[in-house]
Amino acid sequence: MIRTLLVTAAISIAATGMSAAQTIGFSQIGSESGWRAAETTLTRKEAEKRGIDLKFSDAQQRQENQISAIRSFIAQGVDAILLAPVVATGWDSVLEEAKEAEIPVVLLDRQVDSSDDLYLTAVGSDLVHEGEVAGNWLAENVGDDECRIVELQGTTGSSPAIDRAKGFRNAIEGKDNLEIVRSQTGDFTRTGGKEVMESFLQAENGGQDICALYAHNDDMAIGAIQAIKEAGLNPGEDIKIVSIDAVPDIFQAMAAGDANATVELTPNMAGPAFDALEAYMADGTMPEKFIQTESKLYTQSDDPQAEYEARKDLGY
Ligand code: AHR
Repeated sequence: MIRTLLVTAAISIAATGMSAAQTIGFSQIGSESGWRAAETTLTRKEAEKRGIDLKFSDAQQRQENQISAIRSFIAQGVDAILLAPVVATGWDSVLEEAKEAEIPVVLLDRQVDSSDDLYLTAVGSDLVHEGEVAGNWLAENVGDDECRIVELQGTTGSSPAIDRAKGFRNAIEGKDNLEIVRSQTGDFTRTGGKEVMESFLQAENGGQDICALYAHNDDMAIGAIQAIKEAGLNPGEDIKIVSIDAVPDIFQAMAAGDANATVELTPNMAGPAFDALEAYMADGTMPEKFIQTESKLYTQSDDPQAEYEARKDLGY
């Protein structure tokens, strides 16, 4: 009798758990890059596949819109919240509100400065490591030559901008022939990358004094490639280009010889996030605080045309 009751209780907890995961709010940053578009597409598809009712909110790059969206999700009584935080700071109050409402929050692709007991888990890459991979690639390829580097940073105050800058500097530290001569944000957009690169080229002897570009994402690198071409230089040759994301367009640029290397960031953050939520809802399984995705380096020798073909229909 007792055994039957226990089994029934366990089944009912599990059943409640599974059905409780059915409505999930997703506060997305916006659509600043090809990578971001792919993350949105894959999250929607993954939700549909699992029968999850995904409530999607596009914050158009504004933290205040994300905070309002989270408050609205809480008011609607969603079962969980996915948050891709535009910047790292300023989340404590709203995360506390979600915690008080007993709604688990999963961070996607970016980190926050808040205490880690305010969210269930974070899915993402090691952003410092990504910068290190990019910096190591450049250091190896430049060898002992003097190299003046320009850097296109991501959105100011965002964890990838902070950490990718840090990782790159870690990699080139102590190499006296490598110097970052200019660094400015291009806000993770193609337009931003192009405009800032134009100003770098102008300030650096029409680009003659620039040896390499490190861009915190591929979209800014693609914008910069256009600016370099318009300045009459050959991107990928006159100016080496290394960036992050591995979007299809950067593989096309690599196949054409216009870009040299990229570090992959998978846009499928939702798969591991939903897995963690389902296990948590089913029986209270606590995920690791950080679910790390891989950071793989691709160069021109990795058959960029094939990589483009493999990715071009994935929603980027
Ligand atoms: O947080 C991940 C970064 O955000 C991607 O590298 C960039 O393309 C996006 O906008």
